Amino acid sequence: MFVLIQALAIVLTLIAHEHEAIAASLSSSLVVQVNKHSESAYSAHAYFNSSSPQNLLIDLDAPFTWRFSFPRQEGCDSCPEALTCREFPCTDLRTTYSYKSPLCPKPTNRSLYDGYHNCELCPVNVIHPFTGSCSQVILTYDESMFNISNGGRNALSDMYMAYPIIGSTPPWTFDFFPSSVVGVIALSASQYALPAYLQDPVERIIALCLPSSGTDPGVLFFGDGPYYLFPRDDVDVRSLLTYTALLKQPNSFGYFIGVNAIVIKNRSINVPVNATTKISTLDPYTKLRTDIYNNVARRFSKVTKRIPPAKLVAPFGVCFNTSVNGTKVAIRVPDIDLVMQDGKKWTISTANSIKQVTEDVACLAFVDAGPTSEHAIVIGTYQIEDNFLMFNLEDSTFGFSSSLLRRQTSCSNFNFTLTH
Ligand SMILES: *[C@@H]1O[C@H](CO)[C@@H](O)[C@H](O)[C@H]1NC(C)=O
Ligand SMILES: *[C@@H]1O[C@H](CO)[C@@H](O)[C@H](O)[C@H]1NC(C)=O
Ligand SMILES: *[C@@H]1O[C@H](CO)[C@@H](O)[C@H](O)[C@H]1NC(C)=O
Ligand SMILES: *[C@@H]1O[C@H](CO)[C@@H](O)[C@H](O)[C@H]1NC(C)=O
Ligand SMILES: *[C@@H]1O[C@H](CO)[C@@H](O)[C@H](O)[C@H]1NC(C)=O
Ligand SMILES: *[C@@H]1O[C@H](CO)[C@@H](O)[C@H](O)[C@H]1NC(C)=O
Ligand SMILES: *[C@@H]1O[C@H](CO)[C@@H](O)[C@H](O)[C@H]1NC(C)=O
Ligand SMILES: *[C@@H]1O[C@H](CO)[C@@H](O)[C@H](O)[C@H]1NC(C)=O
Repeated sequence: MFVLIQALAIVLTLIAHEHEAIAASLSSSLVVQVNKHSESAYSAHAYFNSSSPQNLLIDLDAPFTWRFSFPRQEGCDSCPEALTCREFPCTDLRTTYSYKSPLCPKPTNRSLYDGYHNCELCPVNVIHPFTGSCSQVILTYDESMFNISNGGRNALSDMYMAYPIIGSTPPWTFDFFPSSVVGVIALSASQYALPAYLQDPVERIIALCLPSSGTDPGVLFFGDGPYYLFPRDDVDVRSLLTYTALLKQPNSFGYFIGVNAIVIKNRSINVPVNATTKISTLDPYTKLRTDIYNNVARRFSKVTKRIPPAKLVAPFGVCFNTSVNGTKVAIRVPDIDLVMQDGKKWTISTANSIKQVTEDVACLAFVDAGPTSEHAIVIGTYQIEDNFLMFNLEDSTFGFSSSLLRRQTSCSNFNFTLTH
């Protein structure tokens, strides 16, 4: 009898394993390394018409992807392989899906670049993510490749191909890019951003986990989970997420959520009705409109009275002296909770609220956005590092984990070991 039960158990285990294997091969997500270059520059490492992977700056707002490269040209008098102004996507991109800035000139049908004057190309304007200056790219067809993951556990050598339309510009067009970053990858909800080019079975879902370290990469997934971060190989990260509605705003391809209040130690600071909250990968610190900022700074100072203050370090408005009797101490501050319309709470704990700016000064890493800022709240990268975020464009939901450090893992804990 005992032997029979044991045999049955083995058979059941085998069946369970088989199911797991099938489930793993059916789950289709792509996995991409995320590198941190500075507090406002994180890049995705993938193949964009290139034989080796390149870094493109992650932008949740950009209408389309563009990079520094000259499109292939057959002979010296011939035109490059690129979209012409007669093709529908050209008009569509120029009118509906373009970068919007009053600084940009109206695009013409002729490229400004030497050698292409007589070609009917499709020049479109792009805006520099850091300086706001305007330049032109021409539209080309690209062949991007991403590593498939084995059910969210490792990177496979199998590749997934996508064929987005992207902008190409000569490398000298833009200064002020981190040295190994060669363009911008658009992860927005635009019809020409990368998620729009994902095809069945890869769903239009982006899961982004920005690293806090400049040396250990974070991770970006395309497609639904499961997703795993070591050492918890039994926990699908999706089970750690809280979900709320992803909101749309006219005139933006980016992502917004409905924050109703900011709560610090049981005291609620109301966010006015109709105020918008945007998520940004280009702003280093969360920006609050002045009315909200002042209330948050006042409340935060009050609940941290026991920590000695320090002279302010720009751009911050609340700073602490972290040197006590000559020795550096780690400070711990109360959580800052962003409370959503539906009552869900995004908790910002010390690792994401306090930045050590010098040896003995640490500051509240939130900044005043001015009294008339377009968005009441812009959640910046310091607050989302080591937080797992899931933008689901299939059903317009947003999932967030709060700090993974409280779950004994981090965004640098994806196992990138290549598996076959
Ligand atoms: C990318 O590769 C495709 C296919 O090889 C080619 O048609 C296209 O012109 C290339 N694009 C650029 C920008 O080089
Ligand atoms: C560019 O070409 C398109 C298609 O041929 C045409 O509709 C449009 O008017 C042209 N635009 C300019 C500024 O010449
Ligand atoms: C993706 O696959 C390629 C080809 O097998 C491999 O060279 C590369 O290292 C992989 N990328 C990652 C992040 O594992
Ligand atoms: C916060 O408020 C709840 C009820 O509103 C109360 O039970 C709790 O004790 C309060 N906590 C603190 C730290 O004041
Ligand atoms: C909020 O927006 C709606 C629609 O745009 C408007 O009707 C309403 O008056 C606004 N409420 C406030 C308090 O501004
Ligand atoms: C911090 O406090 C110590 C005294 O405990 C003082 O010597 C030091 O200058 C202070 N540092 C700053 C930046 O305020
Ligand atoms: C700092 O040093 C003084 C004098 O040695 C001592 O009285 C005080 O308790 C110390 N403060 C802390 C926080 O250790
Ligand atoms: C990463 O994955 C490889 C291959 O599956 C495995 O051998 C290794 O133990 C994993 N490393 C960690 C830290 O989980």
